Formats: sequence, C-alpha cells, structure tokens
Amino acid sequence: MKITVYSAKGSAGKTPIATNIALDREYAIGTNEAFHVFDSFIPDDRILALDLTEPFPEIPEGIDIVFDLAGAISAASHSITSALKQSELVIVPIFNEVKSLNSGIGTLREIAKVEGFNGSVLVAATKLQKQSGETFDTDDWTQSRDFQNIAANVKAAAGDVPILPLKFSKVFDVIFEKEMSIAQLREADALAAYTYRDVAAQFDAIYNHIDEVSNAK
Ligand SMILES: Nc1ncnc2c1ncn2[C@@H]1O[C@H](COP(=O)(O)OP(=O)(O)O)[C@@H](O)[C@H]1O
Ligand SMILES: [Mg+2]
Repeated sequence: MKITVYSAKGSAGKTPIATNIALDREYAIGTNEAFHVFDSFIPDDRILALDLTEPFPEIPEGIDIVFDLAGAISAASHSITSALKQSELVIVPIFNEVKSLNSGIGTLREIAKVEGFNGSVLVAATKLQKQSGETFDTDDWTQSRDFQNIAANVKAAAGDVPILPLKFSKVFDVIFEKEMSIAQLREADALAAYTYRDVAAQFDAIYNHIDEVSNAK
C-alpha cells in the first residue's frame, strides 16, 4: 500500500499521522523535508528523503510506504506529484481554523488536478476541540462543531469526500518524545492506555479506511 499524507499547510498534523502509520504498520517513509525527524526511530533503509523538486522513484508493488509531504503543488514540485501518482490513498489533514480550511480545500482541488492521480482521498478533520458551552457525546466527535464546520467546507468545495475525526490530543507530540505509536504507547503503560483510548479508536477508524482502500484494489 502506498499512502500520501499531504496538505500545502504547515502544522496541519501531517507528520504525526504519517509517523503513527509508519510505526504501527512498519511502512517506509518518504519525505521531501530537509529537516525531518525520522532518522532517530525509522531505520535508514526505510527512509526516502529528497528535495521538493526531485521525483520519488516508482516504488515496487508490495512495498508499503507513507509519503509525508510539505510544500505547494507547482510545475516544479516533482516530489509531490510523483508520490501522488503512485498513491492509492491521500490523507489530507484539516483543522477548524480559517487558514487551515482555506489551504486544505485548495489542497483538495490541487490534488484532483494532478495528472495521473487515480487514488482516493480521505480528509482527517484534526485538532478537534470542544468549544465553550458545547455539549455532545464525546464518543462521537463527528458531532462537534469543529468537525461539522470542516465537513461543511469540504463538502461545499469538493463534494462527498470521506472525513474522519481526530480529536485534539497531546499524544501527537508524545509520539515523537517517546518514538512510539499511539498503540505502542498504550501497550507500554496502563495510564496511557486509558488516556489515549478515544484518539486510538479514532486512529483505528483511519486504519479501517486504509484497509478498505487496500482491499478494494
Ligand atoms: N490532533 C491533534 N491534536 C493536538 N495537536 C496536534 C494534533 N495534530 C497535530 N498536532 C500538533 O500540531 C503541531 C504541528 O504539527 P506538524 O507535525 O508540524 O504538522 P505538519 O507535518 O503538517 O507540518 C505539532 O506540534 C503536532 O503535535
Ligand atoms: Mg511535517
């Protein structure tokens, strides 16, 4: 399976999503960022690092890789277009903040225009927080205002794209502090198992989606 995690917006949460997938599923990582963090916890032979303008090689069938990509799509962004063309799934993280919504939606449009891209798209509505006075069943963050606003914007601009929720959680920093996936953190520590149960269930829904896309091939 080849997956791209991409948004033109920095700080959208691409790298933690890509990292969690790589750690849980033992995927290789492709990155176009010079100062990436993967060296310390992903083996050298599983990291493909290059510049924005360099194309990724065609990854052979049967090798699993997640591309964590930064930068805007342009005539020169060969790293992005080469990864998109070979990806079966693109995950676009968007959070409920004006700049993230704008660039997230712009990113969805740009991806659709990439010649040769024939994968599917999943939006991760991320950094979801309860706003003041808001009440909903916290087992279901699709009921949150943050999620609903992201979903309405995505639908207006890009139609029926699947969207899955990821709540705001410190775990997305702890992944890098401890160099463990959410599932690995929960396995190692009973308190973490409790604290991160909701966000882990949300990430499991992303894994189910990945498996559905993979099985549909
Ligand atoms: N769901 C989330 N809840 C809380 N913080 C998050 C979430 N997703 C990402 N973050 C945090 O947002 C910050 C920016 O993420 P980053 O990895 O730099 O994004 P990108 O790779 O898209 O540039 C990081 O500190 C990360 O831990
Ligand atoms: Mg990043």
